[in-house]
Amino acid sequence: MDRFKPYRDQLAALEKAGRKRRLLMPAGKDFSSNDYLGLAHSPVLQAIAQRAIANGIAHGSGGSRLLGGNHPEHEALEAFAASHYGAEASLFFGSGFAANSALFATLPQTGDLLLYDAFIHASVHDGMKLGRARFQPFPHNDCNALEQAIRVWRASGGTGTVWIAVESLYSMDGDRAPLADLTRIADSHDAMLVIDEAHAVGVFGDRGAGLAAELGKRDNILILRTIGKALGGEGGLLTMPSVLRDFFINRARPFIFSTAPSPLTAHLAHQAIVHVGETPSLRTGLADHIALARSCFAGLNLAEGQDSQIFPIIIGDDRVAVTVATLLQGKGFDVRAIRPPTVPAGTARLRISLTLNVTADDIRSLAAALEEALAVAEAA
Ligand SMILES: Cc1ncc(COP(=O)(O)O)c(C=O)c1O
Repeated sequence: MDRFKPYRDQLAALEKAGRKRRLLMPAGKDFSSNDYLGLAHSPVLQAIAQRAIANGIAHGSGGSRLLGGNHPEHEALEAFAASHYGAEASLFFGSGFAANSALFATLPQTGDLLLYDAFIHASVHDGMKLGRARFQPFPHNDCNALEQAIRVWRASGGTGTVWIAVESLYSMDGDRAPLADLTRIADSHDAMLVIDEAHAVGVFGDRGAGLAAELGKRDNILILRTIGKALGGEGGLLTMPSVLRDFFINRARPFIFSTAPSPLTAHLAHQAIVHVGETPSLRTGLADHIALARSCFAGLNLAEGQDSQIFPIIIGDDRVAVTVATLLQGKGFDVRAIRPPTVPAGTARLRISLTLNVTADDIRSLAAALEEALAVAEAA
């Protein structure tokens, strides 16, 4: 008996569909990571880490925050983040995924309704499936449909709180949420709005505070900022009203029953936010890259108004997307194909992300290689 047959069969089906994932080492010019500001290897942060270790900051927390794992570095980060981002309180998790899944599993209550953008991240899906509220998607960035869904639910007798989940900058499409309209809808329906700033923090906003920074002061808006992307480290920071922070500490299972992130990680997250806030040249450097790429990729049917560091080049067919990515990898560009289920069926794509790990010349060479690879794949 082959006890692994179900797994082999599923992997074979993925292979056949051109969807089997493989782990590759980063190799070539970085056009695939989320290290947007090039801070993952930053000498500034490395020096901070060395000093922190020399000063005795622990590399392990030793336990849950509730059982000996709560360190001054966690508290300092959270107090700083709350004041830096203008929120009442903040709570730090080991990853953005943990923070998001904890939030959606914990805060929406029985009788509430959670409406989420159809392009929302997997971590929200996993959280809401563990939670108590009813949930349903609304079409991507469609505020009319969102408002209509709220009205229909109220008309059918829904009396709980409405929760709305969006990303300020969508990870696979690089487009922005209509935050002003979403806020208006949240206000007029007494709803809670949760904004995931994973891909915007560090890159946009005053001192890199993100696209929603001004909104985080309101008591009906919660914001997730991840440290693992532009901030070059790891972790997820939620900002929110103090009462909700207290609720998390008492009810969020991924917070209560998990070893706290290391004090060193918390210290580095804190210092990365400070460093990014104080170094506007990081943001202007990336903005220059974005403007250059927009002109270099002009022939590639970019979405109208494309204005972020994430450039989706939609190819459609899963196998063709992989072929083009492989051709580019062979030419020294680390470009990856993104396929369903990460993106909707029929929209397999190259997700080209711009980072300060590449130069202007690298972007120009990628544009030339991309045109060539697309032509080869089309002819095949
Ligand atoms: C939109 C969004 N939210 C949350 C996460 C999870 O964050 P982390 O990588 O810190 O777990 C990601 C990661 O890819 C993301 O793209």
